[in-house]
Amino acid sequence: MRDYGHEGQIGAEDDLQDYVKSLVSCFREVRRVLRSDGTFWLNIANTYTSGGRAWRDSDAKNKGRAMSYRPDTPEGLKPKDLIGVAWMVAMALQLDGWYLRSDIIWHKPNCQPESVKDRVTVSHEYLFMFSKSENYYFDQEAIKETTADGKSKKNKRTVWAINTEPCKEAHFAVFPRALVRPCILAGSPKGGVVLDPFFGSGTVGVVAIETDRRCVGVEAKPDYVKIAKDRIMSANRPLLTECL
Ligand SMILES: C[S@@+](CC[C@H](N)C(=O)[O-])C[C@H]1O[C@@H](n2cnc3c(N)ncnc32)[C@H](O)[C@@H]1O
Repeated sequence: MRDYGHEGQIGAEDDLQDYVKSLVSCFREVRRVLRSDGTFWLNIANTYTSGGRAWRDSDAKNKGRAMSYRPDTPEGLKPKDLIGVAWMVAMALQLDGWYLRSDIIWHKPNCQPESVKDRVTVSHEYLFMFSKSENYYFDQEAIKETTADGKSKKNKRTVWAINTEPCKEAHFAVFPRALVRPCILAGSPKGGVVLDPFFGSGTVGVVAIETDRRCVGVEAKPDYVKIAKDRIMSANRPLLTECL
């Protein structure tokens, strides 16, 4: 859904199954380096077939949406079809050995309006939680929600309403910190190490610092590495920049 301008970038495959395979093999390497009691949190959205359009113009509100290419309609689908690609990836990861533990709906109350007239506006993405083993580290207490009467706490639910958070330096979709925080709090102890293989502007690194975790970020684009370093430095705890 984004053109990052990388040679052979993931997401630009002609075939939908090749996209699924690229992600599965990338995350297989994540599983290799993950602790046996670790978890893996994947944010991914569904998308629609492009209906024969070959490119997408940028729009004033969101420059990062411009695409110089649009993939053909995948075999077996029709123009305008919703591609359940988020679930295709989740199922493929499960078959590859991950334990699929939760499908969380990230509800975006401030989602982008859409000009469509024949369906409802998409206002959610998925956050899938996987584990490497049957039993794993999960700090349920750290992310409990307050009950409606405000008197007690309950286990966190699977629908999270979180506004998108613009990042003035980056013209691509960055995570809101509030989306990352529960994943880090539940998935790692203080001092634990968090890995983000698609680091972008480094939001995961910023939240790791804020929550006293360490972070390793991997990013292919030097411009974005600079944005991430600057954001991390301005968090005033240079500890993590060594990891970039
Ligand atoms: C959606 S952005 C991540 C944004 C990040 N979560 C943040 O909060 O800033 C995806 C990132 O993956 C990077 N990336 C690295 N390798 C890639 C590849 N092979 N194909 C596509 N994107 C890749 C892109 O450069 C981009 O920065």
